[in-house]
Amino acid sequence: MGSSRMRMILMAFLLCRTILAEDPYLYFDWKVTYGTISPLGVPQQGILINGQFPGPIINCTSNNNIVINVFNQLDEPFLLTWAGIQHRKNSWMDGTLGTMCPILPGKNFTYKLQVKDQIGSFFYFPTTALHRAAGGMGMIQVQSRELIPIPYDRPAGEFAVLLGDWYNKGHKTLKKTLDSGHTIGLPDGIHINGKSGKVGDNAAEPLATMEPGKTYRYRFCNVGLRVSVNFRLQGHTMKLVEIEGSHTVQNAYDSLDLHVGQCLAVLVTANQEPKDYYFVVSSRFSKKQITSVAIIRYANGKGPASSELPPPPPQHVAGIAWSVNQFRSFRWNLTSNAARPNPQGSYNYGKINITRTIRLANFHGTHEGKLRFGINGVSHQNPATPLKIAEYFGKPELAFINYNLLKDEPPKEMSSSIVTGSVVVNATFRNFVEIIFENQEKTIQTWHLDGHSFFAVAIEYGKWTPEKRKNYNLLDAVSRHTIQVYPNSWAAVLTTLDNAGMWNLRSEMAERAYLGQQLYFSVLSPGRSTRDEYNIPLITNSVVFFWIPQVSTAQSPPYA
Ligand SMILES: *[C@@H]1O[C@H](CO)[C@@H](O)[C@H](O)[C@H]1NC(C)=O
Ligand SMILES: *[C@@H]1O[C@H](CO)[C@@H](O)[C@H](O)[C@H]1NC(C)=O
Ligand SMILES: *[C@@H]1O[C@H](CO)[C@@H](O)[C@H](O)[C@H]1NC(C)=O
Ligand SMILES: *[C@@H]1O[C@H](CO)[C@@H](O)[C@H](O)[C@H]1NC(C)=O
Ligand SMILES: *[C@@H]1O[C@H](CO)[C@@H](O)[C@H](O)[C@H]1NC(C)=O
Repeated sequence: MGSSRMRMILMAFLLCRTILAEDPYLYFDWKVTYGTISPLGVPQQGILINGQFPGPIINCTSNNNIVINVFNQLDEPFLLTWAGIQHRKNSWMDGTLGTMCPILPGKNFTYKLQVKDQIGSFFYFPTTALHRAAGGMGMIQVQSRELIPIPYDRPAGEFAVLLGDWYNKGHKTLKKTLDSGHTIGLPDGIHINGKSGKVGDNAAEPLATMEPGKTYRYRFCNVGLRVSVNFRLQGHTMKLVEIEGSHTVQNAYDSLDLHVGQCLAVLVTANQEPKDYYFVVSSRFSKKQITSVAIIRYANGKGPASSELPPPPPQHVAGIAWSVNQFRSFRWNLTSNAARPNPQGSYNYGKINITRTIRLANFHGTHEGKLRFGINGVSHQNPATPLKIAEYFGKPELAFINYNLLKDEPPKEMSSSIVTGSVVVNATFRNFVEIIFENQEKTIQTWHLDGHSFFAVAIEYGKWTPEKRKNYNLLDAVSRHTIQVYPNSWAAVLTTLDNAGMWNLRSEMAERAYLGQQLYFSVLSPGRSTRDEYNIPLITNSVVFFWIPQVSTAQSPPYA
């Protein structure tokens, strides 16, 4: 008797626990405003989130539900994307102009994200206009759940570092330059968490303060518009532990390359003489070498940092070889026990047969006398009606979708006349695809795919041919969401398109994406079951419905 009552109580308790064990929710209210910032010492109009630049850090744990009510107090439509957050079954929340309408000035929209089975370092940023040139970005750090061991001792603390190139001209002027058909050119400098330091300025506030003997995790993201960077920390090595959501084999590096849109995390042990040290960031593969520094301090340390900075890696051709070698040294830690992105393909991705090969070549040219960037001869233009919404209502023509605009391989001869339109590529749900990025241009490129991670299996100089597949890393390539492609080179990635939705594949160079170097994969599940994809969010007064009546036949300029 007693024991059966006990059992019932226990069962009730377990039931409650099951209910309570729903993944926790984190709620945020974000106010997006203009405010004066001076990342390079020149005051200009910046985009602040709750008064901050960089914006607030989202510090969450695997599987958390994150609810962010974003109030747009700018004078222009605004949207944020969460690069690398997979939004399983939910491209509605991806924050690209192909999946949702921008938040109009004075309005708000509530994003709901779940960081399902993810860990690692990511960032959010604006996808509207050229707002990314003014701020509006911040770090997303997804911690492992308490019960899941991480493949290193818990660090004593951690530091989030956003860095990247910066232009003093301001986002509105830069946008006008692009709209008039010209390039924004080279940046004016590099900022580190919104500041730019010079050697000898020892009064500057330190980027980080470490207790002697302790080990810290530093997360870095390159949030710039264009320039690849290399960073290094005077007198210290950095142990790489994570790249864009995957635990890596823990090699030590004196310096690391980080291309636009990429993130990684390292461990640094404060094992040197207690004093200040310079953290140095310099541009890579760029005609004009630009550098910025910040101070890393030891608590109770004595003495300024030495003015002798650690040298940058080689530039030019030797620099590319150096960088490719570094990329090849990045390996996935196959034995670490963590939330795994892309579970289908996890351990044996090398044994899965490729069902489709898509070769994508970036190029630039002109359309009606203006500079455009594109892929395989076509340049994407965002229609006023988001692609996803038009497709959902069975009216792809409302968004000018032509599923056949972009072919699976580049044209033999790149025509001088560029075709523009809504570039959507049909994808079959759960297909295992190989994407080859071919870069015959003189500038470095970074690609990013939304909604998925991919295995970055190869980067090589020269032209891709099917025989090159024998050089792929089919064992322990890092599963991530960006890949760089050096000039006159190619890169290959493998992924299972197992996340139904409309997903943006874009150049991470803001100028290139803005002027058309992007496309969308439409991944439709058979029968379009809500088991595979959530329904359109039916929020009254939502931006989605707000915009539906505005469908028009006129095509608006990209990122209007
Ligand atoms: C982030 O979350 C982790 C785990 O919950 C916590 O240990 C850490 O102190 C938090 N960091 C910040 C900056 O709030
Ligand atoms: C806008 O904010 C209000 C007040 O916080 C909230 O009740 C409403 O749901 C939000 N609207 C959207 C579309 O998120
Ligand atoms: C990989 O992860 C395992 C398990 O957490 C850890 O013990 C090991 O040190 C890591 N290996 C490398 C090479 O980093
Ligand atoms: C992969 O392709 C090979 C050769 O076409 C075939 O023999 C094999 O059965 C396929 N494997 C799977 C898992 O479909
Ligand atoms: C692409 O998908 C759309 C929507 O399901 C369909 O109407 C169209 O026929 C498909 N096109 C191709 C080329 O498969």
